[in-house]
Amino acid sequence: MQLVDAIQQRKTIKLFNPNVKIPRAELAEMLTLAQLAPSKANLQPWRFVVIDDPIQKAKLENIVAFNYPPCESASAVIIILADLQYHRLLEKILDRSIEKGCLNEAFKQRNLDFLTSTHNALTEQEIRDQVLIDTSLASMQLMLIAKDKGYDTHAIGIFDKSEVLAHFDIDANRFAPVMLLAIGKAAVPPLPSARLTLDNTVVWNSGMALLK
Ligand SMILES: Cc1cc2nc3c(=O)[nH]c(=O)nc-3n(C[C@H](O)[C@H](O)[C@H](O)COP(=O)(O)O)c2cc1C
Repeated sequence: MQLVDAIQQRKTIKLFNPNVKIPRAELAEMLTLAQLAPSKANLQPWRFVVIDDPIQKAKLENIVAFNYPPCESASAVIIILADLQYHRLLEKILDRSIEKGCLNEAFKQRNLDFLTSTHNALTEQEIRDQVLIDTSLASMQLMLIAKDKGYDTHAIGIFDKSEVLAHFDIDANRFAPVMLLAIGKAAVPPLPSARLTLDNTVVWNSGMALLK
């Protein structure tokens, strides 16, 4: 599928075919591709809790309220999290870069010191903003990859975040829920949705015209 087709054909799907089970290997392949998303300093703060056990998925009923039909019928619901303590994985990130030939071992400590001091200079709000941006980029990528692989998705932002964290044993001090992503094969056509025209969203060379 061409990228432009995936972008045009990705639509929010309200109900999935409950008989379609996406194999874990295929989900892993999609997540591997989603992880190719860019992130600030390549810090990769996205984390995914994949709920593919129907019993676990049923726990979402009271947590997502009116959003339950897509969750119930989906092959899986992915809890997409941003790691507020991404710095815990800094050394792993650098080791992986060395292993893949992207970083010379001799520069590891220097990079580690730089990234650590940069991290330490950030406020909690700045950290939160950054990891939410990075994780959203990976989430968008995942939706498009799913479409490319013949699957459909439904991003869900309206849910009880503290309940999701509690029910799925996720450390609330460390992880910020970004969205749930129901994934499966569409059982119904998408609802139509329209976008603003560019004259509402794009200006050239100055932001002044946005004030209209
Ligand atoms: C982060 C995010 C959260 C969303 N949360 C919900 C939600 O809780 N419930 C819902 O019905 N739709 C939700 N949506 C779907 C949007 O309503 C939908 O993307 C929008 O109307 C455009 O339609 P389309 O995705 O079919 O192009 C969410 C979408 C995004 C990106």
